[in-house]
Amino acid sequence: MVATCNNWLVALSVLIAILASCAALDLASRIAQSERRATGRFRAILCAIIAGSCVAGIGWGQQPALAPPGLRAPDVRYEPTPTDVVQAMLRLARVNARDVVYDLGCGDGRIVITAAREFNARGVCVDIDPRRIAESRDNARAAGVADRIQFRNEDLLTTDIGDATAVMLFLSPELNLAVRPKLLRELKPGARIVSHWHDMGDWRPQETVRISSGWRERPIYLWTVPQR
Ligand SMILES: C[S@@+](CC[C@H](N)C(=O)[O-])C[C@H]1O[C@@H](n2cnc3c(N)ncnc32)[C@H](O)[C@@H]1O
Repeated sequence: MVATCNNWLVALSVLIAILASCAALDLASRIAQSERRATGRFRAILCAIIAGSCVAGIGWGQQPALAPPGLRAPDVRYEPTPTDVVQAMLRLARVNARDVVYDLGCGDGRIVITAAREFNARGVCVDIDPRRIAESRDNARAAGVADRIQFRNEDLLTTDIGDATAVMLFLSPELNLAVRPKLLRELKPGARIVSHWHDMGDWRPQETVRISSGWRERPIYLWTVPQR
């Protein structure tokens, strides 16, 4: 999904670059016509500006978000899971009042807030971006569940997840693969993992559900940590 979002940004950047280039070309040809001095050097400079703006646009779309103060930049950009998909993720994991639900890269906290408010679970909201943690905390207070959620401005690859009984992910293919050994090492057997959109490479999910949300179909995957 993050990749998809980036693709849209790339497409938008390229479109803006093309429109800007057309305007520049039009202006340039008017100047050239009026002055009758459209030299090869002028054209070369114009081409370089056009190529540069295209490359800059593509680069911008593929960059991770800017580094917040304190920790390194997030590995994936913030993009919220739609609320109907949040519900489906928690149902797929069969979350209940005995659960401690972690959202690794929790964004605005919507998954853990829903887990606390509607499934009576406790939650842990981990995000590397302090703005997301502040937003999550505010949202949890507004929802009246802040006392059931722990907020951690930490890197999901190093945070302690030992007490999680259910883990929610909406990251990227690469980050799912990076966190996979940690999940298998630190979670107790029987803990459930649900990932929105991205799978776990050759660790096959035990269940896949596709949710029609908005104008697209979104896969969510379930795994259970096996006995060691
Ligand atoms: C696509 S958003 C998902 C937000 C939320 N889980 C949801 O589904 O609505 C990914 C989140 O992961 C956070 N993030 C990216 N890299 C991280 C890392 N290494 N450690 C912790 N959080 C990270 C981002 O700041 C962002 O809020």
